[in-house]
Amino acid sequence: MPSEYKLVLRHVDEAGYTNDIKCYQKHGGYKTMKKVFKLKAKKTKDGTVTPQEVIRKEVLTSGLRGRGGAGFSAGMKWNFVNRKSGKPIYLLCNADESEPGTFKDRQIIHKDPHQLIEGMVIACYANDINLAYIYIRGEFPEGAKILNRAIQEARDAGYLGEGICGTKFNLEIHVHRGAGAYICGEETSLIESLEGKRPYPRIKPPYFPAALGLYMCPTIVNNVETLCNVRHVMEMGGETYAALGTPGNTGTRIVSLSGQVKRPGYYEIEVGKATLGDLIHGEEFGQGLLPGRKLQAIIPGGSSSKVFKAGESFKIKAKDKQGKDVEEKLELLDIPYDFDTLMKCGSMSGSSAIIVIDDSVDIVEALGNLSDFYAHESCGQCTPCREGSLWMAKALKRMRSGQARKADADYLKHIAHNIQGRTICAFGEACAWPVLSFVDKFRDDFVKKGAEDEASLANQQKEEASN
Ligand SMILES: Cc1cc2nc3c(=O)[nH]c(=O)nc-3n(C[C@H](O)[C@H](O)[C@H](O)COP(=O)(O)O)c2cc1C
Ligand code: SF4
Repeated sequence: MPSEYKLVLRHVDEAGYTNDIKCYQKHGGYKTMKKVFKLKAKKTKDGTVTPQEVIRKEVLTSGLRGRGGAGFSAGMKWNFVNRKSGKPIYLLCNADESEPGTFKDRQIIHKDPHQLIEGMVIACYANDINLAYIYIRGEFPEGAKILNRAIQEARDAGYLGEGICGTKFNLEIHVHRGAGAYICGEETSLIESLEGKRPYPRIKPPYFPAALGLYMCPTIVNNVETLCNVRHVMEMGGETYAALGTPGNTGTRIVSLSGQVKRPGYYEIEVGKATLGDLIHGEEFGQGLLPGRKLQAIIPGGSSSKVFKAGESFKIKAKDKQGKDVEEKLELLDIPYDFDTLMKCGSMSGSSAIIVIDDSVDIVEALGNLSDFYAHESCGQCTPCREGSLWMAKALKRMRSGQARKADADYLKHIAHNIQGRTICAFGEACAWPVLSFVDKFRDDFVKKGAEDEASLANQQKEEASN
């Protein structure tokens, strides 16, 4: 049975570990930053490699993928940055953490904020950035307070400000609090919000942050956990980091486990080294379902990921030991928790938030709950998302109030199909995917509810007519 592998959470929850700078330094904090500052330019046959390029190469070699949702290579994202524009480059740390089911970044912020700051200093040094922001969701006032205090401590220690640690490198980090909207987690919407505007996501292209980000300058947006991992990549070296996890899915990941398990919580694992079954049933993880309950469904990567039905199995393309393409059969609980396999199985690891649903849950209720959230959070900029998310939520409300129809399953799917792929940002998919997957996989529940309500309505009408 695999166990937790604590890298980012190495000290978090350790007895006596506090979130002040002294404790962080006592545990080796800021040593990696100082090591990075000592890197020298290297002469190679192709020319001189700057220390900044060395760091960027290490991050690329590490295979580190974004922990915010899309799982995009951090090293590649950094390499996309337009360094020739003559404009300043910005780093934005995405601490919005608003995907339902996700509660990992706030643990880092509350319990080990200096780890994030050290990761950010290294990321900024590597990308010639002198100004960075931590965009934190409005509902985290305590997190914002802790970060502001940590930033002040880092400034007092000479790790932020002008001429950091005797170098010529200057950096300021500011905390910016959102007003509490899910859409502000989407990177271009986050940028608009930071600029003081209504958080309408921007159209990509042309507004890719790497080229036209904050104030139309090149910008890197990375998640809290991604930036913490940068510090570990530089501490151990890109190749050593890449040996953690599984090929293409390197390093560690913090999984938020919630729903009907005995031991919900946040668990750090080597990516792909624990399966969905391990995470739900493992002694070190969820410890199984509640007494007398059966598994009904799993939402594997935050509320917007497609749901899995208990007992599902998948045929996926894999490589055998000789590297030949083979087809592999995988049972739901045997899916390794990584980026790629979950996608091959038709869903995603998203923000790495597993929500376990047992047989006590009414599936129509569960989808209705999710749809209410998305209808509330649509920014309203594009018609399919603004209207469609509301129609789906309204239909589900009607279904939950005893007025379901057999045709509702198809009606919901029809709306969802007309949202996905037709919107400015990925929120369109986020609100359509739960509907499409719930209705596809639990069609019988939706049709049964419709049939029951139609029959009861017909009876009622018959009775009224006979009176
Ligand atoms: C609707 C929506 C909400 C999002 N919310 C978050 C969030 O709360 N936190 C986050 O890190 N990324 C969120 N993302 C992903 C970001 O747009 C972006 O990809 C991410 O911050 C990049 O960081 P990473 O490469 O380190 O993962 C969201 C995306 C969408 C479409
Ligand atoms: S898809 Fe939805 S949330 Fe995204 S821009 Fe359009 S209306 Fe706004």
